Amino acid sequence: MELPPETPATAPFIIHTKLNTRHYRLISNMSMKKSPIFTALMATMIITMISCKSTSTADPATTDSSAGNAALENIMTRTSVRQYAPGKTIPKDTVELLLRAAMSAPTAVNRQPWQFIVIDNRESLDSLSEVLPYAKMLEHASIAIVPCGDLSKAFEDEPSYWIQDLSAATENLLLAAHSLGLGAVWTGVYPTKERVAAVSQQLGLPANVIPLAVVPIGYPLGDHKPKDKWNPEAVHFNHWSQS
Ligand SMILES: Cc1cc2nc3c(=O)[nH]c(=O)nc-3n(C[C@H](O)[C@H](O)[C@H](O)COP(=O)(O)O)c2cc1C
Repeated sequence: MELPPETPATAPFIIHTKLNTRHYRLISNMSMKKSPIFTALMATMIITMISCKSTSTADPATTDSSAGNAALENIMTRTSVRQYAPGKTIPKDTVELLLRAAMSAPTAVNRQPWQFIVIDNRESLDSLSEVLPYAKMLEHASIAIVPCGDLSKAFEDEPSYWIQDLSAATENLLLAAHSLGLGAVWTGVYPTKERVAAVSQQLGLPANVIPLAVVPIGYPLGDHKPKDKWNPEAVHFNHWSQS
């Protein structure tokens, strides 16, 4: 039996349903017999198509729901996690995935002025927690990643862009951890002088390498609800005086 011709663009429900040859034959047979099953099937497909279309064309900027969009859901459900299951090891390829995500961040003039120190031994994690008063969760973390700016690779016209470059990388790291079922928190180092000095000394960093943050990572313990930060008053269209 001949197959139906290419589906016209005006029938999106057929485009979206990815029918195979067998399904085409079945539908054509049913169509020829004008079966009630065919009518019911077509009605169901049309209803499904209409409901799919109405959600897929929704403007993400005008909806408060990220349902069905995995990337948006991951962004909107991320939260700082400071309690971790003790004694758990994060596999090496998972650590590499986290680093790959961090290095996917945008950077000024694509300089990628970064170095990442992975701390995966208990003693070093504990020593770091001793010098960082707001990073005590390091004592229970499986690893920590320290995103650092490498001034020797920074954009020479405006070296301070390294801070934004490394901030983008750090957020990518947090999002990747969350998407992999890990918990993480950004603990601030730069620009607090004493913290930069303590971390640099502990990790033996050369003078051109500045630690931006310490990110403890582990398998989350307990429930961690994301905060709702949506604030329409912080949004301005075209001019400060417009809302
Ligand atoms: C630059 C920066 C520094 C931070 N420093 C610390 C810190 O030293 N210790 C800590 O527990 N959390 C720290 N945080 C995490 C914030 O407390 C957290 O992001 C904020 O409360 C919002 O919560 P959320 O991450 O769950 O959305 C820091 C976050 C940023 C961006």
